[in-house]
Amino acid sequence: MRETWALRIAALTALAVVLLAALFARVQRGERPGSPGPSPPPAADAALVEAGRRVYDREDCAACHSIAGAGNPRSPLDRAGARHDQEALRRWILGDGEAASALPRRVAHAKEEYRQLPAEDLDALVAYLRSAAGG
Ligand code: HEC
Repeated sequence: MRETWALRIAALTALAVVLLAALFARVQRGERPGSPGPSPPPAADAALVEAGRRVYDREDCAACHSIAGAGNPRSPLDRAGARHDQEALRRWILGDGEAASALPRRVAHAKEEYRQLPAEDLDALVAYLRSAAGG
């Protein structure tokens, strides 16, 4: 009788150890236990998106554009990141290619200034517009 209890306790302890190990493995991979769906974007992406938000503010894109209701309501950028791929977003930001002919001349000219931006600022802007924060 006593042996049976000892065996049960040993089995339960072993089970608890295995479950805890699996839980720790998930936490280590950055998944919240019990949360389905994909894990959050890697930290590098989050940093790039945040850098893009700063470039957007610094370059005063909100003079002509709005995101989530903030800025100039005339040209909302909400969901622009979903409508355009990265290359098209670049052309729209820079007033290049097909975007140049679609934009009013004055605007296309203003956007040409962004060609002075360092490549990493442009990458960050594109990441920001493609993120949930950028609409
Ligand atoms: C002088 C005004 C002006 C400024 C400043 C400006 N834009 Fe634009 N932008 C426009 C106009 C006008 C369009 C044409 C599309 C529209 O009317 O929504 C446009 C289009 C775009 C589009 C495509 C939108 C779509 O829904 O297809 C993107 C992306 C964009 N701009 C990003 C930017 C970013 C990022 C900045 C800042 C670095 C910026 N723009 C600065 C006027 C401006």
